[in-house]
Amino acid sequence: MQIEAVRNPDLVTLNRQYSARHVTRHNMTKFRAPKIDTVRVGVIGLGNRGPNHVKALVQIGNVEIRALCDKTPQQIQRGLAWTQAAGHEPTIHTGSEDAWQACCQQADLDLIFVCTPIPLHAPISIYAMRQGKHVACEVPAAWEMADCWKLVQAAEETRRHFMMLENYSYMTFQLQTLMMAKAGFFGDIVHAEGAYNTSKVNNNLGSKAKGTWGTGNYTDWWWLKAYAERRGNLYPTHGVGPIAQIMDINRGDQFDYMVSMESGDFNLAAKARELAQDDPDTYTPLSKLAYRGNMNTTLIRTVRGRTIVVQHDAHTPQPHNLIHGIYGTAGCALFDPPPPRIATGGHWVDESECAAIRERFTPELARKLGASTERHGHGGSDLRMDWHLIDCLRNGLPLPQDVYDAAAWSALAPLSQWSVLNRSSAIDIPDFTAGAWKTNPRNMDINFEDGGGNTDLLPPVEPATDVDDALARQWAQDHG
Ligand SMILES: NC(=O)c1ccc[n+]([C@@H]2O[C@H](COP(=O)([O-])OP(=O)(O)OC[C@H]3O[C@@H](n4cnc5c(N)ncnc54)[C@H](O)[C@@H]3O)[C@@H](O)[C@H]2O)c1
Repeated sequence: MQIEAVRNPDLVTLNRQYSARHVTRHNMTKFRAPKIDTVRVGVIGLGNRGPNHVKALVQIGNVEIRALCDKTPQQIQRGLAWTQAAGHEPTIHTGSEDAWQACCQQADLDLIFVCTPIPLHAPISIYAMRQGKHVACEVPAAWEMADCWKLVQAAEETRRHFMMLENYSYMTFQLQTLMMAKAGFFGDIVHAEGAYNTSKVNNNLGSKAKGTWGTGNYTDWWWLKAYAERRGNLYPTHGVGPIAQIMDINRGDQFDYMVSMESGDFNLAAKARELAQDDPDTYTPLSKLAYRGNMNTTLIRTVRGRTIVVQHDAHTPQPHNLIHGIYGTAGCALFDPPPPRIATGGHWVDESECAAIRERFTPELARKLGASTERHGHGGSDLRMDWHLIDCLRNGLPLPQDVYDAAAWSALAPLSQWSVLNRSSAIDIPDFTAGAWKTNPRNMDINFEDGGGNTDLLPPVEPATDVDDALARQWAQDHG
């Protein structure tokens, strides 16, 4: 495994240069592509995450999976298990690092799902848009600031949708609190908190084939490598995405500036040292790396004077915690730690009143998909999100999360690194909308007020072999 030193690019200058050059060629927030009756999909990256999307997509009407791609031929089976069971006949692209290019070039595709390790997200997505494809990309959209700008440029120039697949926005309580915010339940929102705090130490140090470099629970140890080469919040979008939508970021308010602070590493190198006692060949080199601190805390102020806390900790033993706290002049809500709670004054309302409020603010999207989401990952949010994306494309509607959302939420990764490496100094968060945030309309039309909602759900598919991954099983276990 090649490890580079932590780099600290001059983001202040870089953002000034990109901002000065950026004029909106086309406002992608309002963008409506021509309707696509049957959406023809290619999925790139079939590790833990890609097959979850394939599993969801084969349960959505008017979807044809026409391509599957992974650099490693053995991984293809993880997607094929679902497509074969559902009667799809995808073309396979595999066997090389750049097999994804042929996939993006395939003429009979409308939409490419990018589910590779994060450093490949932007290059593949930009290439796919330039090949005329809409793109749905896993989180975060990019780890480099320049890539955030390039994604915006590519979407505007090609007039192709780019949606980052922030599935946590589609969890039940997150959808309900979004409805509550839109209805004014919280009054003026003053402050919000979000996180992706969870225990991934075993995932990140896990070795599928012990003693060999180039393996790991994640392909090529790519997550572990990032923890050694980077600082800051590597995974900000699960925490910030649902909050940004609730606070109308890019649509009436805007991130202004932020600071970020990080603890030291008390867990990861220590665990590698422990594992090295049994398996020195694999773990002694890993125990000598200087990893990102365990807890990163980022504090954002918006142009309207609201504040947001975003945390990321993947290595301190703890239950999965998204926080998702919303605090306004008329009410507040808190998702984690469980149970989810709501208040309109100095006390949380009791269980039955909380249930009644949640029921009142359940959006049509959640009602329509109902129990069919239960077999799907992350509390059913995976199917809700993929279904909504397909429904919008079929009805020629703007997408629920656009390229400016992807860029602004993902930019917290390089910006938090810069702040951490500059003793938590403040740094401006760029405006990827070039001022359009002042008038851009709200998105996430989860009540179908602008149309849509007419895409069918198909019966669930049973693959011949069990390909649900270990991480999905662990998530389901952690969340009951
Ligand atoms: N939204 C969520 O809840 C969620 C959950 C897990 C992962 N993710 C995201 O999904 C993405 C993938 O994560 P993962 O856990 O599946 O990782 P993984 O390492 O298990 O899988 C990545 C896959 O990409 C393939 N790949 C690598 N380089 C490639 C190339 N050049 N061409 C084609 N295929 C290539 C690998 O062979 C592997 O099969 C990441 O961006 C991650 O952040 C999101």
